[in-house]
Amino acid sequence: MQKNIVLIGFMGAGKSLVAKQLAMRLKTDAFSTDQWIVEREGRPITAIFEQQGEEYFRQCEREAVTGISKLSGKIIDCGGGVVIFQENIDRLKKNGILFYLTTSPEFVYQRVKNHRHRPLLNTDKPVEVIARLLNERRPFYEQADYTVDTDGKTVSQTADDIMAILQKEKLVNIPK
Ligand code: S3P
Repeated sequence: MQKNIVLIGFMGAGKSLVAKQLAMRLKTDAFSTDQWIVEREGRPITAIFEQQGEEYFRQCEREAVTGISKLSGKIIDCGGGVVIFQENIDRLKKNGILFYLTTSPEFVYQRVKNHRHRPLLNTDKPVEVIARLLNERRPFYEQADYTVDTDGKTVSQTADDIMAILQKEKLVNIPK
């Protein structure tokens, strides 16, 4: 059974775009927990937060992880908060190789400041919120098998870094 490649990390780390690049290069499909939730709920993430709150969203996330982590040989792009529940990390690890895409708060802010669909950053002091959440989550993110820095890198460069690790460690079959 081929392992999944699972991308974790904070909002703005580029997980979704990198996941799509990897899927193309490895000739497989990318799945996103956020997308899974939006499709099942039939409404955007901001609406879910507004109408039912974060706790409900986290429950949806657990269900998304339970479903998606059963796949094999896929690329899984996780919403930034998936890791705050240890059970999610454990499920994803069972059949997946976890890559933590790191970013500094300043880079996160630059990348997400025009994206209104991130309800947690809809505040007067986004940089402080980013720094606080990053600190709280770091111990969870650091349970990943590999860490890849994304600051100042393009999507393609980050995908190159991940591909290099996959090749060096012979983690997946790379299609010709
Ligand atoms: C969240 C990250 C978002 C999305 C939701 C909550 C978080 O996903 O799941 O807004 O708690 O960090 P991205 O990391 O894909 O932006």
